[in-house]
Amino acid sequence: MNVIAFITFAVVQILFIPLVIIGLVMVFYKQVYVSKKLDVASTAVEVINGRWTMHVFGLREDEASCRLNRVLPNNSLFGLWLILFPSYLRYRMSGQTHGYPAIPEREKEGLSHLVTARTVYFDQLIEKHIDSIEQLVVMGAGFDTRCYGKFKHKQIRYFELDQVNTQKLKISSLDKAGIDISHVNFVDVDFFAECWYAKLHQAGFDPGKKTLFLWEGVTLYLDERSVRQALREIRQHSALGSVVVCDIYANRFVEGTYVSGMKSSLKVLKVTGEGLGFGLNLSENAVQVLSDFMASEGMLMKERYLMGEKTEKGIFMVVLEAIVTN
Ligand SMILES: C[S@@+](CC[C@H](N)C(=O)[O-])C[C@H]1O[C@@H](n2cnc3c(N)ncnc32)[C@H](O)[C@@H]1O
Repeated sequence: MNVIAFITFAVVQILFIPLVIIGLVMVFYKQVYVSKKLDVASTAVEVINGRWTMHVFGLREDEASCRLNRVLPNNSLFGLWLILFPSYLRYRMSGQTHGYPAIPEREKEGLSHLVTARTVYFDQLIEKHIDSIEQLVVMGAGFDTRCYGKFKHKQIRYFELDQVNTQKLKISSLDKAGIDISHVNFVDVDFFAECWYAKLHQAGFDPGKKTLFLWEGVTLYLDERSVRQALREIRQHSALGSVVVCDIYANRFVEGTYVSGMKSSLKVLKVTGEGLGFGLNLSENAVQVLSDFMASEGMLMKERYLMGEKTEKGIFMVVLEAIVTN
């Protein structure tokens, strides 16, 4: 069956070449130019597309992402289907995914696994704490749907933080998709501005309650000062034992030197004002570098996923869990 699936895939893929090109143009236009027109984050579309793909290919259930993705004005699901249809056919025939999307062995990740593997690692860390927290703060939430799926618990207070236009678009799209948002407090923030915490507090955040701060795919768009500022605000205003789950990128990734050709693709991010900024030197002693960085802001690093460590090119980013200690 695998051979038949492969031959069918190869033939359909060749026939589909013009359609794949059309699909790429449709997705690119919506993601980059429509996002720019609406002044919302285009990178958030990239992430929800990755999660939608994982759902469609049976790697991770995420009904809410599928429903939300269907109504986003800055995405083309039709275009995405044109790109992925040959692979989908192969997946349906063989029952397995090949190439993309995939979740490789831990530490053997490449750049194509950035969203898929990262999402799974964050899920694992959320899972670890979900039963012991009282508040969940999703920082730079984009089109993340964790507050609307299996992590939606009655006893938890939910907060989503993002820039004003991206957040407005998310709220109206969730509404259009018929997804209940009554349990979520939305707070518009800019991590470059000082004291975003005051807004979170106004929205009902209780600094005495154990909280999980989920900060996925955001630090790389900031600078060191604002990343430190955010960690400091968390430390100053949250109960001991609260947890930060975030990802930190290698400076080779942020500078576009991790693989050849990366610099030109990073230029596209500048169209929507989402250029990369913050990274650390993770080429040597990454664990020490990260644990020193978190400790310098009063946090104790625990679990970490060193993405790419067992590959020739080495680490490109790390998903980590840190406990607020003082
Ligand atoms: C790649 S998306 C990740 C979205 C989400 N965390 C997820 O995993 O689906 C980056 C998000 O960070 C937000 N972001 C970037 N810079 C920000 C800033 N200065 N203040 C607040 N949010 C910011 C963007 O609006 C966008 O939603």
